[in-house]
Amino acid sequence: MTLLVEDLVAGYGDARVLHGVSLSVGEGEICAILGPNGAGKTTLLRALSGMVRARGRVALGGTALTGRSPDAIARHGVAHVPEGRGTFMSLTVEENLRLGAFVRRGRAAIEADLDRIHTYFPALKTRLKQAAGSLSGGEQQMLAIGRALMLRPRLLLLDEPSLGLAPLVTRELFRIVQAINAEERTTVVVVEQNAHLALGIAQQAHVLETGRIVLSGTAERIRADEQVAQSYLGYRV
Ligand SMILES: Nc1ncnc2c1ncn2[C@@H]1O[C@H](COP(=O)(O)OP(=O)(O)OP(=O)(O)O)[C@@H](O)[C@H]1O
Ligand SMILES: [Mg+2]
Repeated sequence: MTLLVEDLVAGYGDARVLHGVSLSVGEGEICAILGPNGAGKTTLLRALSGMVRARGRVALGGTALTGRSPDAIARHGVAHVPEGRGTFMSLTVEENLRLGAFVRRGRAAIEADLDRIHTYFPALKTRLKQAAGSLSGGEQQMLAIGRALMLRPRLLLLDEPSLGLAPLVTRELFRIVQAINAEERTTVVVVEQNAHLALGIAQQAHVLETGRIVLSGTAERIRADEQVAQSYLGYRV
């Protein structure tokens, strides 16, 4: 579904972090959010999923989400894979996956979705009864995304999925995200330090700096513009 964000203002207590962020992501598109540490990328995702209070307007498929509770937003199909993954380490893989469906009813559909997730992440299938804490970093990130998919999301928010993972694992993960986006038509907003990877799967990108979008464009254009990459991202993409 189309995500529309208008003039979003958010922060923590008196500290304002986002100073009026506006963007839109078309149905079934992947949008990358880039920017330096502390820019407000995580806060933006938290504002979209209702985890921090925000003013402004957020709408998904025409339904206003601003000011709603996190579980009401989840019920509307927004799944957030947070920074650090948010996996429950002492629960099993299967328990973590089932938690992802907490707002859903319909047992048969949930069972079918567990199977569907195993087709994206075959590595999880053989580890269902294992504690999530015993998985490798890459497997834990796959579990976190698998859990998000159990919500049947219309909008998937990914916060630094590549953090701490080896390049090969990261590439595999991004390939799977791309497959999910293509097959389920899930709209994706991905925050990523690895600009090269994110721009490789996104259609459009925004660069966030101290709570403001300082650059927006097609992923192709941003990737092609080395000067832009160096001045805004502080490194080469
Ligand atoms: N829970 C919190 N309470 C108070 N301030 C916070 C909290 N979380 C983040 N901040 C502050 O908000 C600002 C933006 O942080 P945020 O985590 O959104 O940045 P980020 O772009 O995700 O950075 P990083 O790339 O390091 O993950 C920072 O100044 C940070 O210190
Ligand atoms: Mg962050």
